[in-house]
Amino acid sequence: MNAAIRAVVRTATFHDLHVYGIYRGYEGMIDGQIERLDKGDVGNIIQRGGTVLKTARSERFRTAEGRKKAYDSLVANDIEGLIAIGGDGTFTGAKLFYEEYGIPIVGIPGTIDNDLYGTDYSIGFDTAVNTAIQAVDRIRDTADSHNRLFFVEVMGRDTGFIALNTGIGSGAGAILIPESSIDVQNLIKHLEQTAKRQKLFSLIIVAEGNENGNAQKLAGEIRDRFPEYDPKVTIIGHMQRGGAPSALDRLIASRMGFKAVEALLDGHANVMIGIQNNQMVLVSFDDAINKHKEIDLDLLRMAEILSL
Ligand code: F6P
Repeated sequence: MNAAIRAVVRTATFHDLHVYGIYRGYEGMIDGQIERLDKGDVGNIIQRGGTVLKTARSERFRTAEGRKKAYDSLVANDIEGLIAIGGDGTFTGAKLFYEEYGIPIVGIPGTIDNDLYGTDYSIGFDTAVNTAIQAVDRIRDTADSHNRLFFVEVMGRDTGFIALNTGIGSGAGAILIPESSIDVQNLIKHLEQTAKRQKLFSLIIVAEGNENGNAQKLAGEIRDRFPEYDPKVTIIGHMQRGGAPSALDRLIASRMGFKAVEALLDGHANVMIGIQNNQMVLVSFDDAINKHKEIDLDLLRMAEILSL
């Protein structure tokens, strides 16, 4: 996200605009935590994870009173347009705010889950997947040396994009995601097929939102029903949300920040910047929020074949 913030500030100052940073998202907008940002203020941040502007979930922005306070803060600082980085919650708030107060808002997709409709990538996804793959590579050494079965849980509350890419990239034995259900019985069947080629260990990637249970639950079931497996569990958790961003994330975030300023200057509002087939596009907030991004189940099938 810092690469996007840097790109927004530098592009806007290039166009002689005044730029303000709003701290802690909509919470800071309500509380007036707003500071002028100049080119130099965003130096030395492109390589840092997280966001220098900080972030917060805001219950108050869901209320008309909260949004009125936020509007007053913008007026007090002569702010005429907004760029908001976030996911569907951020854009739902942005859309409502635009409808109520007419301040144009352009969104930049920032969620490691990569589940927003209208964009091939959102900021953070590539870094999260790379971090997860590095972790799985390390776990593989123990799995291989000790002939063990490992369940590795990655983030993805509702979707399996991180799990799918991590599973393919780490050569996992199976990938369990919310979009496709496989029960313990079938999982064991699959593992026994892979065991036919003397493969004695297995790495199974589980999205936290997997329908048939998270990594702990699945490992527990296997322990009860197939004690010979003695499965181990690793939950990668918030490690996936931090650390230096990948090259791809920095590139995408820079392009999105640049494009967001241009879109505002061209008079666009209520749209999210997306990347489709390596081209920058504008996607309406309505579509980004309401349409469902489908996961490519052919990739899951491919991963299964590659693991046999
Ligand atoms: O929305 C992105 C996400 O990474 C989910 O995959 C995960 O469940 C959630 O955030 C964790 O959020 P929090 O840090 O608030 O627990």
